[in-house]
Amino acid sequence: MIASLRGMNDILSEDYERFTYFINTATDVAQKYGFHFIETPLLEETALFKRSVGESSDIVGKEMYQFIDKGENDVCLRPEGTAGVVRAFIQKKLDRAGGVHRFFYHGSMFRYERPQKGRLRQFHQFGVESFGVDSVYEDATMIMMVSDILKRCGIGYRLQLNSLGDQNCMPQYRNSLISFIESVEDEICEDCKRRKTTNPIRVLDCKNEKCQSLYTDAPKLINSLCDGCQSDFDKLKKILDENGVKYEIDTNLVRGLDYYSKTAFEFVSDNIGSQSAIAGGGRYDRLVEFLDGKATPAVGFAMGIERLMELIVMPQNKREGYYIGAMDEEAVDLVVNLAQRKRESEKVTIDYKAKNFKNHIKAADKVNARYFCIIGSNEIESQILKIKDLENNTEETVKMMDF
Ligand code: HAM
Repeated sequence: MIASLRGMNDILSEDYERFTYFINTATDVAQKYGFHFIETPLLEETALFKRSVGESSDIVGKEMYQFIDKGENDVCLRPEGTAGVVRAFIQKKLDRAGGVHRFFYHGSMFRYERPQKGRLRQFHQFGVESFGVDSVYEDATMIMMVSDILKRCGIGYRLQLNSLGDQNCMPQYRNSLISFIESVEDEICEDCKRRKTTNPIRVLDCKNEKCQSLYTDAPKLINSLCDGCQSDFDKLKKILDENGVKYEIDTNLVRGLDYYSKTAFEFVSDNIGSQSAIAGGGRYDRLVEFLDGKATPAVGFAMGIERLMELIVMPQNKREGYYIGAMDEEAVDLVVNLAQRKRESEKVTIDYKAKNFKNHIKAADKVNARYFCIIGSNEIESQILKIKDLENNTEETVKMMDF
């Protein structure tokens, strides 16, 4: 038997119901906030991710599904959605058009990570990206959107918040962090030694316990923010406070992608094991310019659907639609014809085989039908149908021609 590749799962039956319930709920919330759907290709030029997510990140350095295609192009399966949306935004000249552009998307992402619970090689994200708003109100709105989606799905969370500064305050902080790293360099892991030169702030979320204990004394970016970043961060906290969104400040939250500045956030769940991040995002004001577009402020987030699947509280399944069954073979044609007519307005389930009453009721229960109607010689003769409402336990009669 040929099995699926490691870390790549099928989604079917009950999982699929949860999956589509999540997508529909998140889509509804995104549309209520004024976002529009965007679909970008799964395959992009490798250079797009190198320049946006960053060569020093684990995603680009270790995890890309990268290959040379038949036309000798260096391409890769998208490891995340933001870079493609930014590329499309620039390619469609929306950066030149100005104004505000808000998008949402969902689909497969690919990262060649070591598979474990909650960590797949092909996984699905629901994400949003907003372009053209440099106000911190938009950052707060992003966070409140994630919170709304999670609430509507019955999912509890902890929100971690940080500010990564901007080009005014980051370089100075970077220098003081490098000096600190040099003071403990003999004791840190090889990855952190490499990060010191490629992207020093990434040492702060190193998973190595020894490194973590050394970095507790590292300078904190949050204490070195310039006035602009500090007042934006204070304002963000105030908006969240006023809207009842609880958060924790995590000064080590640096995110695994290089394009962020200012606001960075992550939503985590304590109920799904070690891969606890269920959503992450932040501001990325330099990325459009960095990918050769006109400088445009931007902010966004993405949620990991597989991690959310086991947390979603599904609404009670309500009975819906009709079940129509034949009591004898002669009635089957009529059942098919009536179902066909009724399907113009209703969900209808039928069986092409004649069965007794008990078996039909069982079948109607299985598909959770609300209305139940069986047809045999009596109904054909009288041209009258009995329609049982299985939810309210009532029954009414209708003329076959009016059904
Ligand atoms: P990210 O934090 O890399 O951000 O991914 C977002 C979410 O995707 C994570 O919080 C997690 O739930 C899920 N995820 C990531 N990797 C895996 C995996 N291997 N298996 C299962 N789920 C996973 C981004 O991708 C950014 N593009 C978010 C963003 C949008 N920032 C601004 N706009």
